[in-house]
Amino acid sequence: MKIVRTSASKLGSVDFENLNFGSVFTDHMFVCRFNNGQWQTPEVIPYQPMSFEPSMSVLHYGQAVFEGMKAYKDDQGKIWLFRPDQNFKRINRSSERLQIPVFPEDYFFEGLKTLLDLDRDWIKPGIGNSLYIRPFVFSSQACVQASPSKEYTFIIICCPVKAYYGGEVNVLIAEEFSRAANGGIGFTKAAGNYAAQFYPTALAQKEGYQQIVWTDANTHEYLEEAGTMNIFFRVDDQLITAPTNDRILDGVTRKSVIQIARDSGIDVEIRPIRIAEIVQASKENRLKEMFGSGTAVVINPIKSFGYQGANYKLPELENPIATRLKEKIMSIQYNLSEDPYGWRFAVD
Ligand code: COI
Repeated sequence: MKIVRTSASKLGSVDFENLNFGSVFTDHMFVCRFNNGQWQTPEVIPYQPMSFEPSMSVLHYGQAVFEGMKAYKDDQGKIWLFRPDQNFKRINRSSERLQIPVFPEDYFFEGLKTLLDLDRDWIKPGIGNSLYIRPFVFSSQACVQASPSKEYTFIIICCPVKAYYGGEVNVLIAEEFSRAANGGIGFTKAAGNYAAQFYPTALAQKEGYQQIVWTDANTHEYLEEAGTMNIFFRVDDQLITAPTNDRILDGVTRKSVIQIARDSGIDVEIRPIRIAEIVQASKENRLKEMFGSGTAVVINPIKSFGYQGANYKLPELENPIATRLKEKIMSIQYNLSEDPYGWRFAVD
């Protein structure tokens, strides 16, 4: 791998206490190009603008997928990733569905390790601080034919982050718009899956909701996932979440939460969830919690949900399951507890 170090680090100019999620980038980036039928020698270079031709394929057809990962630093200064094998497999599953050549595992992990080592001072210790890692790959051939590109670019950039949502999260249940269809690309982290949510989310925001909970496209009767997170419901003492399928993202945090919850003795049911039963449970005061899970958000409690013009508030609990699960998952991520699952991955 070729490595070019920055000659002017930006580290000193960053206010780590006031980070706007995803808008400050570290000194270096990983870049690897695909042409002549193969991935070329990867490089880690200073983070910088890139030039492109207006005909670059991704700008026309959106052939692009990404991942979200985080690196954590413990009190001894050691750097950890959380289940990076899952992100690696998922970006290639997404790529395959969008007819993008799969990326070699050794390039991915070598790239991550080199990048995190060079930018290690950007990772601050302490619960709540992390480095958000954004691997992504897109068609970069200069060509407007509506067919798969012959050239691709795989990049990894990183940003120091704190919480994703600054304030409370209220969600609106989708009654008209859909995020994904059967046989489509809902299970991938395709860039377009996110773009398609912006308009309905902007409408929801006008009504005071931060996110939409997507429902099945056929009937709009079943709850699926929220824009940046998978979603869990606690009815009485049982957690319920929707099964993954070709419309729903197979979230790494989602499956970790399910495992930790079950191993903590919490009953977790994975099954289709009707909106009607959640509304009913809320009316009967049996809906105790709703929360989202995702790499960026970790576990984010939901304050209320909107449906058919009504707003249903979640109760304020003393010791919510969401908080307990968040503490457990974060103590594995930050190397503060045993990791019985082997999820923690040492970078150095
Ligand atoms: C993540 O949680 O990493 C995501 O990819 C969601 C996002 C669009 C911020």
